[in-house]
Amino acid sequence: MNADTPLQLLGGLTPRQFLRDYWQKKPLLVRQAFPDFESPLSPDELAGLSLEDCVESRLIIEHGVQPWELRRGPFAEDSFSQLPERDWTLLVQAVDQFVPEVAELLEHFRFLPSWRIDDVMISYAAPGGGVGPHFDNYDVFLLQGHGHRRWRIGQMCDSDSALLDHPDLRILADFQQTDEWLLAPGDMLYLPPRLAHYGIAEDDCMTYSVGFRAPSASEVLVHFTDFVAQFLPDEERYADADLQPGGEPQQIQADALQRLRGLLNQHLQDDRLLMAWFGQFMTEPRYPELLQGEDLQASQLQQALDEGAMLVRNPSARLAWAELGDELMLFASGQGRLLGGELRELLQLLCQAPALHADNLAPWLQQKEAHTLLLELIKQGSLEFADE
Ligand code: SIN
Ligand code: CO
Repeated sequence: MNADTPLQLLGGLTPRQFLRDYWQKKPLLVRQAFPDFESPLSPDELAGLSLEDCVESRLIIEHGVQPWELRRGPFAEDSFSQLPERDWTLLVQAVDQFVPEVAELLEHFRFLPSWRIDDVMISYAAPGGGVGPHFDNYDVFLLQGHGHRRWRIGQMCDSDSALLDHPDLRILADFQQTDEWLLAPGDMLYLPPRLAHYGIAEDDCMTYSVGFRAPSASEVLVHFTDFVAQFLPDEERYADADLQPGGEPQQIQADALQRLRGLLNQHLQDDRLLMAWFGQFMTEPRYPELLQGEDLQASQLQQALDEGAMLVRNPSARLAWAELGDELMLFASGQGRLLGGELRELLQLLCQAPALHADNLAPWLQQKEAHTLLLELIKQGSLEFADE
């Protein structure tokens, strides 16, 4: 993707301009980001998804048994017939993993690293419906899919911002509106993290939210240290062979802190370790149970491809790769594999090609390392045979 090509999706800005001036900084409204957009999913189909056990969904009813009542899915067929005429919202998470046409929308966001994208959440709201004024800790592109929604934006927030007393929802007690727009199908609003926003449906309304993954510093520290700790021998300890005599015996002196910092830094500065952890963490699948692997022999894979079979990425898989000196690391759905540098084009193919088949795999099938990699990805469930 060329960073200097203006994109309709960004209202004519180039990716470079958008990243410089808006990304993580300020909101951007784009009229007709997706011209003549028609929602690939109807409200009934969205409601249908929320009946499934494996799908995360929520209903928020503004005037329910308590203000802003939250109900969690999976829902039953009759859950929707008992709802009030207005002022409620159904939200369904990660619809891209269940509806290929929704996953295709993400192709338009390839000017951003794909491992930063989390999912596409879709909401359906009856007139007046919304989830209340709130802020999110991640970036979001809000694409109007159907009907109209009035978006109001407000102040920048943080964990000190006052919230309503609610057991489950983080609704702002104080919303200081700075701007508002009415969005029609195809219009899109980009919001940086922590910006207060409040969307209210004007009519029957569907909104697609492309959300991003950004681990908190606390998650990074907890998970990274857990990961590193697995590799550390018990004898690696705080050590002070340079200990000097004198000083108060109860005092922890500054040189102790230096030694401690040295012990930590030794691991924090290990790029291989940091990259291995980060790639695995950022590619953790949301629904690991949807990755059903298949144990295949090398000859069976060859035969299937010879007979015209095609391999595709499982919609629940997450793939990314990185360079580590002369070597490469492939991250597939939470697992990292160190590979030879000569496999670079194969990794690009695995991460990008719409399908893998005898033709585009031909240069690789004779190489043992490549063949083994394909079998491992099939076994893990990140790659699967296409249906037809
Ligand atoms: C919605 O679609 O109603 C809510 C999306 C959001 O505010 O993040
Ligand atoms: Co939000």
